[in-house]
Amino acid sequence: MSSIVLARTKQEMPLVGFGLWKVTKSSCKATVYKAIQEGYRLFDGAGDYGNEKEAGEGVRQAIDDGLVKREDLFITSKLWNTFHAKEHVKALATKQLGLWGLDYFDLFLVHFPIALKYVDPAERYPPEWFGADGKTVHLQDTPMQETWTAMEELVDAGLAKNIGISNCQGSIILDILRYARIKPQVLQIEHHPYLTQEALVALARELGIAITAYSSFGPQSYVELSMDRGDSLLKNVTVSTIADRYSKSSAQVLLRWATQRRIAVVPKSNDDDRLKENLDSESFDLSEDDIKAISSLNRNLRMNDPADIDVRMSIFA
Ligand SMILES: NC(=O)c1ccc[n+]([C@@H]2O[C@H](COP(=O)([O-])OP(=O)(O)OC[C@H]3O[C@@H](n4cnc5c(N)ncnc54)[C@H](OP(=O)(O)O)[C@@H]3O)[C@@H](O)[C@H]2O)c1
Repeated sequence: MSSIVLARTKQEMPLVGFGLWKVTKSSCKATVYKAIQEGYRLFDGAGDYGNEKEAGEGVRQAIDDGLVKREDLFITSKLWNTFHAKEHVKALATKQLGLWGLDYFDLFLVHFPIALKYVDPAERYPPEWFGADGKTVHLQDTPMQETWTAMEELVDAGLAKNIGISNCQGSIILDILRYARIKPQVLQIEHHPYLTQEALVALARELGIAITAYSSFGPQSYVELSMDRGDSLLKNVTVSTIADRYSKSSAQVLLRWATQRRIAVVPKSNDDDRLKENLDSESFDLSEDDIKAISSLNRNLRMNDPADIDVRMSIFA
């Protein structure tokens, strides 16, 4: 399986991994186990996904059954917005490792460059976006420098091998680099043919920051949340015509469009066949013209924007 070598640690991050958002608690252990059986080695989790314990059980079962060793796996998790203050970062990373049953994460990301008021995990976990009334967002004035410095201490303590950021645009990335002792190794962003973010991708490449794309199928992931925008990418005629030519599925073409340009992907599927199909998306190469044709579908159309929840969180403005 292809991988990206991360600049600081030289650790290999698989180009195709498995995303854990919206994998239900009840099926998560079996799904992770099945994914490992099929050959997935990277799992993209987050405190916010609410399934870290169950994902960890799948990992542990696979290790106990001799399918893999811990060091064969690349486990990513993310720090939620309510834990940005320096006194909470390590406590939460430690709690999350405990849920997974792991000693370290291969990669730990700041989920969003948004700080929200602390919620004690004993009261509510995961805390999500809103306060106790379920409708008000409580912002907190924690600068990213404080959060990033605490993230660096996770590396020092051996709790995370690599640290990175997600949902960050150019200006905040450049600012982090002004004070970072340990540079972000990975930037995880929404990236699909309706949102190609070419300038951001070029900046990350120039800075030696690896990119992971999320929501590679564009609107598809958001249909079940009634948050989808635009037409289906999986049914888009440009994508499906190219897919037919290579005797591949539209999903495989969308993943290959990213991985062929060294952008990692973490597709999620609750279905065994689609899970296999997504992993098997590196067995062909698209022509340069096909890549260009798919890129030309860009409409700067974003699905995952916290500004939709509260305009004070317009991080992409
Ligand atoms: N950093 C962030 O803020 C952030 C935000 C969003 C996501 N992520 C990460 O990125 C991962 C992937 O993104 P995502 O979950 O939004 O969406 P995704 O992987 O782009 O799409 C998932 C959707 O596509 C369907 N699907 C999967 N494989 C398919 C195939 N081969 N053919 C047709 N349909 C297929 C799934 O349905 P079935 O399950 O029924 O197959 C589901 O509805 C997440 O799980 C998470 O780990 C990170």
